[in-house]
Amino acid sequence: MHLFAEQEVIMSTNRKHFSTLAIHHGYNAQDNEGALTPPVHFTSTFAFETAEAGGEMFAGERQGHFYSRISNPTLDLLEKRIAALEGTEAGLALASGIGAISSTMWTLLSPGDEIIVDKTLYGCTFTFLNHGLAKFGIIVTHIDLSDPELLRQTISKKTKVVYFETPANPNMRLVDIAEVSKIAHSHDAMVVVDNTYATPYLSQPIQLGADIVVHSATKYLGGHGDLVAGLVAGKQEVVDQIRLYGMKDMTGACMAPFNAMLVMRGLKTLSLRMDRHCQSAARVAEVLESHPMVESVCYPGLKSFPQHDLAKKQMSDFGGMITFEVKGGMQAGIKVMNALQMIQRAVSLGDAETLVQHPASMTHSTYTPEERLAHGISDGLIRLSVGLEELDDIIEDLHQALKVLDTEKASAKTLAEAMPA
Ligand SMILES: Cc1ncc(COP(=O)(O)O)c(C=O)c1O
Repeated sequence: MHLFAEQEVIMSTNRKHFSTLAIHHGYNAQDNEGALTPPVHFTSTFAFETAEAGGEMFAGERQGHFYSRISNPTLDLLEKRIAALEGTEAGLALASGIGAISSTMWTLLSPGDEIIVDKTLYGCTFTFLNHGLAKFGIIVTHIDLSDPELLRQTISKKTKVVYFETPANPNMRLVDIAEVSKIAHSHDAMVVVDNTYATPYLSQPIQLGADIVVHSATKYLGGHGDLVAGLVAGKQEVVDQIRLYGMKDMTGACMAPFNAMLVMRGLKTLSLRMDRHCQSAARVAEVLESHPMVESVCYPGLKSFPQHDLAKKQMSDFGGMITFEVKGGMQAGIKVMNALQMIQRAVSLGDAETLVQHPASMTHSTYTPEERLAHGISDGLIRLSVGLEELDDIIEDLHQALKVLDTEKASAKTLAEAMPA
């Protein structure tokens, strides 16, 4: 069932550029008394013209909105926009990123099916799969999808979905979207990509062969740290199924109209913000890499990044996320985090504020220590979401915080020198 005539809209606007679509797509002010900004439809239900019309909507024989857990005109506009930005037919707005992921998986998978997922995933996605789906008879297989050959060896008739994040949270590993999609499709499996880190501005997985994109719109798409939201994009038929089953019946995780308005406001400046995030993160990554107290830095834009060539192939720029480890491991890392003055210690990412967090004790504490080890998430890793502040101020704050380690090293040396032999 097609709730809305999405395809036509896509066809007629394909020639517009990203920022133009993000600002204008799907909205005509003249349809709304000239209101430049789309009205927000604060309504839970919609009045039927006649009882028959209501019955026809429920039967899927007539288009239109009837209850906001299923659809709402404000959400509809956001859904059109994410579909246009990802270059696909349809979108779906949900209450959170996890709402988007879980609604999608409850729709695509049944007991006995297998889902092959990448080794590294955001902590709550990992929990949803391993403690959620697995509990209901779905086989969850983790492999290193950065090596597509492993997928070729593992995939079978049971595999219905291949799922990954690229870049992955938190260690920035990339997955070759085109290559993995080719292998998955040759076994009739669907490819679902979490595009939260890259955003459609830097990478469009569906254009590279994936079937469905999911987002935590809480992050760059919203962009201001003031909401929790999720989005799905893909072919009309499959998005309709996720809407009418996964979201409507299984999770009920629909987005509130007010949040849809905030996400659309965020989208208007996404390209500008992403350019700045990328520029600043590239410089911060270089500065960290050359710092004597920094052990290692992971940023796809660095030449030292093992998958730098893949990053250039499937991303138009390298994003705003960095992970690094300081010399002295986890305890030293915690000291550096505590010494930061402007940069905020907080989870989430993609906000105007630069945020720092420690995955092992925070976002990825849902993994056991053994699981973290096996899934490539080291205990000393620090995750930095480079914000929109003046670059010099971000670098200055990191410099002054890293001095804590220099000072400690110096005082340990002084103490050793003062000790009698
Ligand atoms: C890559 C990624 N996917 C999904 C999520 C879940 O999104 P939400 O917090 O909006 O439910 C997050 C949250 O941090 C994330 O980083």
